Amino acid sequence: MNTLLKANWNYPTRIWAGPGRIAELATACAALGIRRPLLVTDQGLRDAPMIRQARALVPEAGLFADVRGNPVAANIEAGLHAYRGGGHDGVIAYGGGSALDAGKVIAFMSGQTRPLWDFEDIGDWWTRADERGIAPVVAVPTTAGTGSEVGRAGVVTNEVTHQKKIIFHPKMMPGVVISDPELTVGLPSGVTAATGIDAFVHCFEAYCTPGFHPLADGIALEGMRLIQEYLPRACENGKDIEARSRMLAAASMGATAFQKGLGAVHAIAHPVGAFFNTHHGLTNAVLLPYVIVHNRSAIGAQLRVIARTLDLAGDPYAAFLDWVLEFRRRLRIPHTLAELGVTLDDPDTIGREASLDPSAGGNPLPTDAATYARLFRSAVKGDLQLAG
Ligand SMILES: NC(=O)c1ccc[n+]([C@@H]2O[C@H](COP(=O)([O-])OP(=O)(O)OC[C@H]3O[C@@H](n4cnc5c(N)ncnc54)[C@H](O)[C@@H]3O)[C@@H](O)[C@H]2O)c1
Ligand SMILES: [Fe+2]
Repeated sequence: MNTLLKANWNYPTRIWAGPGRIAELATACAALGIRRPLLVTDQGLRDAPMIRQARALVPEAGLFADVRGNPVAANIEAGLHAYRGGGHDGVIAYGGGSALDAGKVIAFMSGQTRPLWDFEDIGDWWTRADERGIAPVVAVPTTAGTGSEVGRAGVVTNEVTHQKKIIFHPKMMPGVVISDPELTVGLPSGVTAATGIDAFVHCFEAYCTPGFHPLADGIALEGMRLIQEYLPRACENGKDIEARSRMLAAASMGATAFQKGLGAVHAIAHPVGAFFNTHHGLTNAVLLPYVIVHNRSAIGAQLRVIARTLDLAGDPYAAFLDWVLEFRRRLRIPHTLAELGVTLDDPDTIGREASLDPSAGGNPLPTDAATYARLFRSAVKGDLQLAG
């Protein structure tokens, strides 16, 4: 069994996968020439036994745990202060997407002179960065969802404008990833489901976004198949190491695939997360069927292949939509954004922000702000017909 769970991959970066691989944390730091790392994690994990274990494995490491879910710029500022004050020379980004993103962005910003927002993922803004000022990162994911461990971006919320901004640089990719399923066994079933569907949406949106990228398409399809098979198992029995290991792989596959692009699910989830501080994966999980209904006319060919991959019989659109709804029910994902505390106070602002979000450009069907506002309303109310 173990041989099927353990592997070293060099795609898209060095990934050391398998149960117990966290024991190699010091080796990973040494491989990147890091002598005095700053371990960045989120507030929820600060006192977790696995953080104590990591600090025992790398006693030279400093700890910065002031990262909230949906990290904000102030978290990055405080982290930079800790990084510079502690004389660190690299980062161990350890946790879910929030901690991974914060750790990557702190390492990226550690040697820059320009302000954070100058590096938003717009055009060639990344060329503004001084590459010599990017510190190396070891990434240790503890959720299986965002795939941030193999991504070249970090999502940071601008707390002043209520916008989720993507900070991008090709060299933000971690140098080593430790993908250890034992670190995810304590993840509660609800977070497992929400983060797992985030990974599914990454694969789905990447596969459906227009463009010629057969490499991403192949990864996206296999990612969806793995999640169909293993996410329910991981939710039903958190200690199922095989399911946990496949889910970690699928999460990394989602982020590898979405180099091709994303779409309307993420375009809406970003402003909803920025305004209502909802969990990213859970927001995506609620939104997915509404966006499928909306995009129906533009994704017929893709749905035929997806339905085949997921072994769904009958009309591909109906079969896939039914399967998504049933999968969500089984994983206890709510049907409405209202159940996440999202209100209809200002749908036009959400619609406008969604239409301006970088993910909107990848949606298979060009969608304007008014239509995004309608889609948002449909998801708050739970009205699938309003999405069509
Ligand atoms: N960089 C990217 O490409 C990318 C892609 C998608 C999402 N994101 C971002 O990632 C963030 C969401 O990340 P997430 O979904 O992983 O959630 P998260 O990092 O916010 O973590 C969710 C909760 O789970 C807890 N947790 C994490 N690991 C645990 C474990 N093993 N056991 C018990 N509890 C654990 C955390 O403390 C936290 O309370 C958002 O800010 C989102 O915008 C980034
Ligand atoms: Fe996502």
